[in-house]
Amino acid sequence: MCGIVGYIGNREAYPVILNGLKRLEYRGYDSAGIALYDGSDIQLCKTQGKVSDLEAKVEKSITSKGSLGIGHTRWATHGVPNDVNSHPHYSNSGDLVIIHNGIIENYGSIKKELINRGYTFTSDTDTEVLVNLIEEIKKQEDVKLGKAVQIALNQVVGAYAIALFDRNKPDEIVVAKLGSPLAIGIGEDEFFVASDASPFIEFTNNAIYLKDEEMAIIRRGREVKVRNIKGDKLVAPYIQELQLNLEQIEKGGYDHFMLKEINEQPSVIKDTYRGRLLADQGIIKLGGLEDYISKFTNADRIIIVACGTSWHAGLVAEYIFEDLVRIPVEVEYASEFRYRNPIITEKDVVIAISQSGETADTLAAIKLAKEKGAFVYGICNVVGSTISRETHSGTYTHAGPEIGVASTKAFTTQITVLTMIALRLAKVKGTVSQSDYMLHLRELEMIPSKVEKALQEEDNIIQIAEIFKAAKNFLYLGRGYNFPVALEGALKLKEISYIHAEGYPAAEMKHGPIALIDEQMPVVVIAINSNHYEKVVSNIQEIKSRKGKIIAVVTEGDTVVKEMADYIMEVPATPEALTPLVTTIPLQLLSYHIAVMLGRDVDQPRNLAKSVTVE
Ligand code: G6P
Repeated sequence: MCGIVGYIGNREAYPVILNGLKRLEYRGYDSAGIALYDGSDIQLCKTQGKVSDLEAKVEKSITSKGSLGIGHTRWATHGVPNDVNSHPHYSNSGDLVIIHNGIIENYGSIKKELINRGYTFTSDTDTEVLVNLIEEIKKQEDVKLGKAVQIALNQVVGAYAIALFDRNKPDEIVVAKLGSPLAIGIGEDEFFVASDASPFIEFTNNAIYLKDEEMAIIRRGREVKVRNIKGDKLVAPYIQELQLNLEQIEKGGYDHFMLKEINEQPSVIKDTYRGRLLADQGIIKLGGLEDYISKFTNADRIIIVACGTSWHAGLVAEYIFEDLVRIPVEVEYASEFRYRNPIITEKDVVIAISQSGETADTLAAIKLAKEKGAFVYGICNVVGSTISRETHSGTYTHAGPEIGVASTKAFTTQITVLTMIALRLAKVKGTVSQSDYMLHLRELEMIPSKVEKALQEEDNIIQIAEIFKAAKNFLYLGRGYNFPVALEGALKLKEISYIHAEGYPAAEMKHGPIALIDEQMPVVVIAINSNHYEKVVSNIQEIKSRKGKIIAVVTEGDTVVKEMADYIMEVPATPEALTPLVTTIPLQLLSYHIAVMLGRDVDQPRNLAKSVTVE
């Protein structure tokens, strides 16, 4: 949802910002722009398209580059993606230059007022309105830039991470945050600004993550001054030591981040349970959970809120929690939950799941749940993210940076955390027998090697992808624990190949989707050994008799489905509650290879963004 980068220091700003934009491109990639200032001349270049298009344009158009600059990679909200709507935006005087990630909801009324005062606008963006509002306040109130920003931000409704500078202040960048993330990298006599720490990781390990409603004035060679937007008090910033390293944010020899991340799953699942799961001793210990176990065990119900792939992880958790812990669970799209006046009480526990920890709808659902007195537990991947701070407690997935827009390792590590929580609670509540408990602990510990095994099916999956890459539609079917996996498999295919796909509970197929089945229709069926095996076998027969093509995910050694299916993808056997962790692997690979064969931009599929910080 837009990436922003800024630099002020002694080195040339351009390469730092350009590299930073490339790393943040996962956040949006329909246009990009940069503004550089050498103290006498502001040079601005922007273009529709990707950061590589910007790079080509900059090489032709920008001469003097300077040691202060800001850059932006956009996911359009207001105004189509074109050159004019790209950021940065100038104020009318040409003195102020801004980049913005977020949405200013009341921009319409502010724009009208500014037009009445003689301001003109070249773009359709809310951002251009904001920079002119700041300019007008600066002029009218005769205040410094920082103060003008503060006054302006108290007038706007919406979400933002902004960075701006003033032609008259060649040694200063002002930044502010509400709802969208913003990190300030602290180097020696130099500062970096970015939506996450990846743009400056090779320069410094120290960063300040601004909190909501905080702004900072960053001056060359001086200390960063952080203050609350609502008040005038300076805030002592917390300088965090970053855990990120360069290797984690590079492709490491893979063609795409998505493939790297798919292949990382054995190791990151291990990272997720390392030190938390001690199978031999029968122990699960999650720091964030221990003090709050009674909140869960006394809860009337658990409500899970999330979006996208994280919502699918929530659906898997519904099965695990109800099955093992015997607590009623509801899984909600955060975007629906927040707007439908949901019934939430102090006896509810809300679990918010989010890879980025920044998804606007999930954040809003958390705020609502907190207002109603519920205990809110977060499961996030990005350390220090807004959701991880807004929740009462939580568990990190420790999957490392996920850069491919289509989520893969985040999903399996979220399920790993949710499984550990469920097992810990089940043990306390006594809803699982000791032998079952121990079995699941040992089996969970073996998941990385089983995922490894599932990944070895890749050559077979490439052949299947080759056969079906031209299909116009796909149906994905699963039952029980693997119904959410079917949804996730269909989502992966849609996101990166642009092939229409639907996920369905296998038995529901006969209430509609069966009408779609003909010899053109590939049907991916998760038909592993489980409580539903026989039923799924019957569903496969129903598809076969309508000439659908069956691609089945089966348990190693399966003979029955193997006979019936046109193609199979094998996964190792594991207890049913853990099966989503392995059955999802072949579906990720299938989508990936079909998308590659179709020449799609796998890591940056059209219209999508990784971190959705607007509603
Ligand atoms: C976007 C991403 C999805 C992700 C969803 C929720 O749509 O493209 O991959 O599942 O947001 O994001 P979160 O960071 O909250 O898990």
